[in-house]
Amino acid sequence: PADVRSLLTGLIHDVPDYPKPGVMFKDITPLLADAKAFSVLTDVLAGLAQRHGATKIVGLEARGFILGAPAAVRAGVGFVPVRKSGKLPGATLSQGYDLEYGSARIEVHSAGLAEGDRVLVIDDVLATGGTAEASVQLIRRTGAEVAGVAILLELGFLEGRERVERALAGAPLDALVTV
Ligand code: PRP
Ligand code: MG
Repeated sequence: PADVRSLLTGLIHDVPDYPKPGVMFKDITPLLADAKAFSVLTDVLAGLAQRHGATKIVGLEARGFILGAPAAVRAGVGFVPVRKSGKLPGATLSQGYDLEYGSARIEVHSAGLAEGDRVLVIDDVLATGGTAEASVQLIRRTGAEVAGVAILLELGFLEGRERVERALAGAPLDALVTV
């Protein structure tokens, strides 16, 4: 709803020219530092997990961990981290994807998800959609089903939505705030 949206929006700060000139960084740390707003955000994300019938929440390193873990606790489901490569000790599946310059790789424990799991993916920002798209592909390879992707802030001008929706093939992409 509109009041939740304006509460959250007001606590996401624009930082110009970070991490490099021409980039407007979206800083969610003021929101995290506000007990009421962080709790409301957690309620909304946990509600989406329940509505979509999720049995697990996946958070995308690093900022997706901060939002996804409390939502998992509140929704009463387990939390599974998708990490940048080389950080998980067990057997992993990995998925590469292209960045504006170069490429990246994310991983999940093979044993962390399995057929029968329904996964809600949580992250803070949707920009090009590359990270979320790769996570959907990675999660499916474990045998789990992707119940949806939930994002705090969608940068609408970058058209990441189209890319993620194509990967989701009908599962919902929920953005709490769009700019
Ligand atoms: C940022 C953000 C999203 C991703 C969005 O993460 O937190 O995960 O980029 O970009 P995309 O839609 O173009 O893929 P980043 O890789 O900067 O790292 P962090 O979460 O570890 O800070
Ligand atoms: Mg991130």
